Amino acid sequence: MPATISREQFLKQTALAGAALLVSSLEGWAGILPDKKLKVAVIGCGSVSNRYLPQLLSSPLIEVVSLCDIKYERALAQNAQYKVNAATYPNIDELLKGVPFDMMVTLTNMQVHGELNKKALLAGRHVWSEKPMANTYAEGKALLEMAKSKNLRLWGAPAVVNSPQFAFMSKTIQEGKLGRIASAHGQYGHTGPTWSAFFYEKGGGSMPDLGVYNMATLTGLLGPAKSVMAMTSIVNPERTVDDKGKIKVEAEDNAHILLEHDKGVISHVMCGFNYFDPHGHEAAGQQLHSIQVYGDKGNMRLIGYDWETNGVVLDTSWTEPPQLLCTEKGGYEWQEGARVTGESIVKGIEPRINVEHALHVLEIIEAARKSSASGMKIRLQSKFPWPMV
Ligand SMILES: NC(=O)c1ccc[n+]([C@@H]2O[C@H](COP(=O)([O-])OP(=O)(O)OC[C@H]3O[C@@H](n4cnc5c(N)ncnc54)[C@H](O)[C@@H]3O)[C@@H](O)[C@H]2O)c1
Repeated sequence: MPATISREQFLKQTALAGAALLVSSLEGWAGILPDKKLKVAVIGCGSVSNRYLPQLLSSPLIEVVSLCDIKYERALAQNAQYKVNAATYPNIDELLKGVPFDMMVTLTNMQVHGELNKKALLAGRHVWSEKPMANTYAEGKALLEMAKSKNLRLWGAPAVVNSPQFAFMSKTIQEGKLGRIASAHGQYGHTGPTWSAFFYEKGGGSMPDLGVYNMATLTGLLGPAKSVMAMTSIVNPERTVDDKGKIKVEAEDNAHILLEHDKGVISHVMCGFNYFDPHGHEAAGQQLHSIQVYGDKGNMRLIGYDWETNGVVLDTSWTEPPQLLCTEKGGYEWQEGARVTGESIVKGIEPRINVEHALHVLEIIEAARKSSASGMKIRLQSKFPWPMV
């Protein structure tokens, strides 16, 4: 071996050493080093944080290092209630300057998701966002471009595509068991949240809060929508909510959305904040179906809500009764998205949840509002990798 090496050889060798270092650090993230946990900050310590925190805290690959809420006492209260032992902050700027973390989990009012997610990405953090991940399709697209340019990951709720029932339905369609697919329907409604006004203010509404689940399920099963026609309305012009008392409802609380998919397939979503449904969030006992898909050789119905599924009824026979199949949850929980995507970063694997899918659903919501206001059919631009299973 020569005692001296050329500059070219030196650069080659150091580049290889650099690559070896990178590989070993990725292996570290892949779980070989147990202390390499993903450090997570949760912003928004309201109602849904009660579902997210136990999920995140249950993961051996994740450490919740910070909690933040502009109602600061909520960050303190959740820290104590769930024994998180995290640093607490009263706003995002202090959060970003504080204890270092890798991923922000956004659980605030819908209207501020876009600006908060942007700040986190600009500061070099991965983001999991509750729905919607931004307030407009353009804003969401810009966020995704920013994330890609900075080699960061961005994901948006919901996590419905993770359920075994979604996988079962998708495979059933892909294997041709329903024949040629024609039509599908999804619905989700209840009498509306009572705790916060933002659900009814501009930028809120039953589509980004409820219809979003069915839109994710139906596009996930049938493929991206090419165009949208919709009617939306406000049925209940005034509400009384815990944080602001009597308020004027500004966002749609009733919506019907028609989606045109490829090959002539049409689906329909119906959602609203004025639907009597005694099951609401206690959905374990729901025996009615929320999603139905029809082909010329069979049909299937998803029992329960698509976010809290209880099985799939499959009907493919002229003579035999329909069968209730795929009744096990397999560990799936609707609030698992941040944990699953966070763990996917640590393990170096790609989760089924796809940010382009969330962006497509955001474009559908915006298009539905445009269609309802104009009476026109709105063409969509976005697509996502499909089939998902
Ligand atoms: N509540 C549920 O069961 C549920 C279920 C699924 C999804 N979601 C979604 O989760 C999100 C939050 O809903 P929620 O019901 O928890 O609302 P919430 O009103 O109970 O909580 C929102 C919290 O965000 C805080 N916040 C608002 N702006 C902030 C900011 N700029 N910086 C830091 N904190 C801020 C508020 O002070 C509040 O504590 C929404 O997108 C909603 O659609 C809620």
